[in-house]
Amino acid sequence: MEKREELISILPFLPVVLQSSSLLWPSQVVEGLKALSRGPEHSEVDSGEVLFLAISDLRDSLCLSESLAVSAAEGYALFFDELMSRVESRKWFSEVLPSLAALLLRLPSLLDIHYQNADNLLGGVKTGLRIIGPQEAGIVFLSQELIGALITCSFFCLFPITNRDAEDLPDINFNHLFASIYTNYSESQEHKIKCIIHYFERISSCMPTGCVSFERKLLSGKHVPFSVSYPDTEFWSKSAIPLCHFEVSHSGLIEDQLCESLEVDFANKYIGGGALRRGCVQEEIRFVINPELIAGMLFLPCMADNEAIEIFGAERFSNYTGYASSFHFVGDYVDEKPVDFMGRQKTRIVAIDALCSPGMRQYRPECLLRETNKAFCGFFDQSKQHLYQETFQVEAFCGDKNAQEFESHSGKAGSVQMDRPLSSPEGLNDGASIAELINKSHIELSRQSKDPQDDIGIVTGNWGCGAFGGDPELKSIIQWLAASQFVMQSLVYTCLRRRIKTPFEAHWFKAFRPFILYCTFGEETLRNMEQVTQWILLHEWTIGDLWNMLSEYSSQRLKRKTNTGFFTWLLPS
Ligand SMILES: *[C@@H]1O[C@H](CO)[C@@H](O)[C@H](O)[C@H]1NC(C)=O
Ligand SMILES: *[C@@H]1O[C@H](CO)[C@@H](O)[C@H](O)[C@H]1NC(C)=O
Repeated sequence: MEKREELISILPFLPVVLQSSSLLWPSQVVEGLKALSRGPEHSEVDSGEVLFLAISDLRDSLCLSESLAVSAAEGYALFFDELMSRVESRKWFSEVLPSLAALLLRLPSLLDIHYQNADNLLGGVKTGLRIIGPQEAGIVFLSQELIGALITCSFFCLFPITNRDAEDLPDINFNHLFASIYTNYSESQEHKIKCIIHYFERISSCMPTGCVSFERKLLSGKHVPFSVSYPDTEFWSKSAIPLCHFEVSHSGLIEDQLCESLEVDFANKYIGGGALRRGCVQEEIRFVINPELIAGMLFLPCMADNEAIEIFGAERFSNYTGYASSFHFVGDYVDEKPVDFMGRQKTRIVAIDALCSPGMRQYRPECLLRETNKAFCGFFDQSKQHLYQETFQVEAFCGDKNAQEFESHSGKAGSVQMDRPLSSPEGLNDGASIAELINKSHIELSRQSKDPQDDIGIVTGNWGCGAFGGDPELKSIIQWLAASQFVMQSLVYTCLRRRIKTPFEAHWFKAFRPFILYCTFGEETLRNMEQVTQWILLHEWTIGDLWNMLSEYSSQRLKRKTNTGFFTWLLPS
């Protein structure tokens, strides 16, 4: 155990200790947890007030010196002793809490098992729990049970927080969550806690057995072979790739998708945003109805402009209504998404943080580029880079001679140049234009001829437009550009994976159902969205065409030559 780099990076942020190569709870903590696990007759913990005393004892046994939020004690007492019904509270203290204590007792062994398996999951790729630092791409796979134990640590405020700020890590303990219902009560805050409590009830009556992956994705700033680099303005403006299908839903919700898709989290650069504080908008709601997302807050530091986080497999446990101050937990939700071969529920959530309060700045070229690249970073599939590497045995690719071999090799496979984002398909070797091919792609090929993964679309909405104050028309177009680029990338990878020598054969385009589904949430300025996007598709614009139009509009907006929205500017009638 002690040699593991991964464990060394995360150990200062975990409550357990490493002693002669095993992970342990300090013995006093074990005593405390054992008492709790035997129920209120042994522990005397039968109210929120006493629960908080137990939490304080556990914290003392761990020598956690950081003080908790003022009024955390009152918050726990208020929730369990006043807001929760008698019946529920009795069940909580007699069944749920003991079972959570038992789960905590298993944390060291769950971590052991986790690290034992971590090297074998993805054929040598590191998947162990660790801090995935800034400017580092990487993935962590956690079992749902281990996640349950980690979130229970948050509930008991057992994570040390001293070094978190220095590492740009978000809040992780629940003390502010509870304190805030006491210091400034709001119904939505109470209901956020209800969602999380419901999650604990669910996992203590039936522990889910799958796993969740947390991936930090990166568009590399430097020119690194086989990595997708950070596109520049010219890249977007010259892109000859056609735009993907665009569907509009005025009343649907992103999280209600029943088929596998990439669902956008309108994230804060600190993942989770105000989920464990007072926040209650899109990201925070997602984090309380799919609480396993919270585990990512433990080890994923603040995102930079060229970074995004993808979480695959987080199960939904709660149903809700409303938004922000009207948010309400309305009961259990049974998530029936299918499970992939690694045991992950097929829910992919992509956290991308928009510019905060950009004002007129959002029309500047550097901001258009930042937002488009951020969305693209969220959408693109980092893992397929490895696939690409396998396909071409990159191990051998080190010197110039090999590089030439590689070029001739990849030339045969369609001249895909992987050290920059995929732009115009230069290897196209028949007469048909890519636009024609993709426009024919609604024709569904038979199921067996394709991999279901190729079908994944993007489900999004008014990213960065609520609390962050972005322009919804601008943001929707930006996401369309990024999504179209992603679709092209997936297509090329599909061809590579199947070792198809001429990747741009028509039937591969037909087999592909690329789309972006945009939920407008009734946003008034987007009421003509279908007409505008259909018009653009009808005219067969490329990514470059649309980018250039958006740039022109933005520059007029900056010079105050126009103050209408992009849709009206583009199609005045
Ligand atoms: C209390 O909550 C309300 C609504 O959530 C908010 O507007 C107000 O600023 C909060 N007050 C304090 C002192 O945090
Ligand atoms: C979620 O709650 C809404 C509103 O109460 C209800 O209409 C819907 O059927 C519920 N969905 C599930 C899956 O329980």
